[in-house]
Amino acid sequence: VIGVRHLYVHLPFCAHRCGYCDFVTVVGRRGQHATYVDALLVELARERDVLAERVETVFLGGGTPTFTERAELARLLTALPPAEELTVEANPETVTPELAELLLEGGVNRVSLGAQSFRPHLLSVLERGASPDDVRRAVHTLRDAGCDNISLDLIYGIPGQSASDLDADIADALALEPEHLSCYELEAKPGTRFTHAHGAELERQAEAMEGYFEQVVDGLTGAGYRWYETANFCLEPEAVRANGRDLRARHNLGYWLSRDYLGLGIGAVSTVEGLRWRNLPSLGRYVAALGNGAPPPRELEVIDTGTRTRERLMLGLRLDEPLALGSVADAVDRDAAERLAAGGLVELTGDLEGAATVALTRRGRFLGGGVTVELLA
Ligand SMILES: C[S@@+](CC[C@H](N)C(=O)[O-])C[C@H]1O[C@@H](n2cnc3c(N)ncnc32)[C@H](O)[C@@H]1O
Ligand code: SF4
Repeated sequence: VIGVRHLYVHLPFCAHRCGYCDFVTVVGRRGQHATYVDALLVELARERDVLAERVETVFLGGGTPTFTERAELARLLTALPPAEELTVEANPETVTPELAELLLEGGVNRVSLGAQSFRPHLLSVLERGASPDDVRRAVHTLRDAGCDNISLDLIYGIPGQSASDLDADIADALALEPEHLSCYELEAKPGTRFTHAHGAELERQAEAMEGYFEQVVDGLTGAGYRWYETANFCLEPEAVRANGRDLRARHNLGYWLSRDYLGLGIGAVSTVEGLRWRNLPSLGRYVAALGNGAPPPRELEVIDTGTRTRERLMLGLRLDEPLALGSVADAVDRDAAERLAAGGLVELTGDLEGAATVALTRRGRFLGGGVTVELLA
């Protein structure tokens, strides 16, 4: 038994494709939801002994998991192994009282809602299907159904977004009292319609984005949220609504801590004991292979120890907790570490030889990846 404790399941269907999105998605295809779930369950059965008996987290991501045919989504939820945290990504316009009940009855205890923005003109730039009121309604519907762990996704750096638009988005998100928020800078993904239309504009505004990032961090930490990962924030356990809970996303935390995980479905990635495989994105080939008793078409990669250590450093430094240097020492350029520490971007505890921990300072965290790259040996 290998005992992997984190399971990702990809549900690719969406009502339409938003211009900025390059996730593995397929539009519509109502008629194929059942065969896709059949294939997912076959892949789960094939990989079942990779998983621990009781897994820690399951994450249903997309695409739009909540766009999946109701009966198929319910069937999938029933078949999944029990988990301590079961998260589903939901698009606001799909959240009805019936859907919320289906999720909660299926064991879902965390919902990640793609709000993105509360400004109608920015939602339309993003080609989103939900209005600001749809987002609010979705949160209330989930609350009424008993969901006590809601995360909101926000995007900033949208063409046409002013600093006051961003403040208003932060305020509107906070008014919904989510347990958790993920705030991403809009990325121009190569080959998307969005990049074609707005790529040049995003490049022009790149410098302003550092200020926007700080505005997000200040707004959310000022409201009592913990900035526990570069783009992620949660209520502190002492907050009244947290009720003593650690509200960090446990599934993602497993990933940032470089734990092994199993991914099912098209486009899904797995990392297990030094092997990484990615299922190819073709829906037809995935369903056909599993229907014929074969493994889905995959790309396989061996992750050598050096690569793994560098990943552990890069991912671990995204978190607000110091990283034990013992586990990443080979990946750290000691001179660079001392220089960055002297410059106030990195904090080291203990002496570097027997060294204890490494972390980014607040200023280092704003520069993020740039500092980490310098630290790499
Ligand atoms: C798997 S995606 C989509 C989930 C869900 N279907 C939705 O649209 O809300 C998860 C999150 O990634 C973020 N995201 C997607 N594309 C992005 C991009 N080009 N740049 C920045 N963030 C992006 C969005 O905040 C989105 O909610
Ligand atoms: S952003 Fe979400 S809803 Fe839009 S196409 Fe991507 S996965 Fe689908």
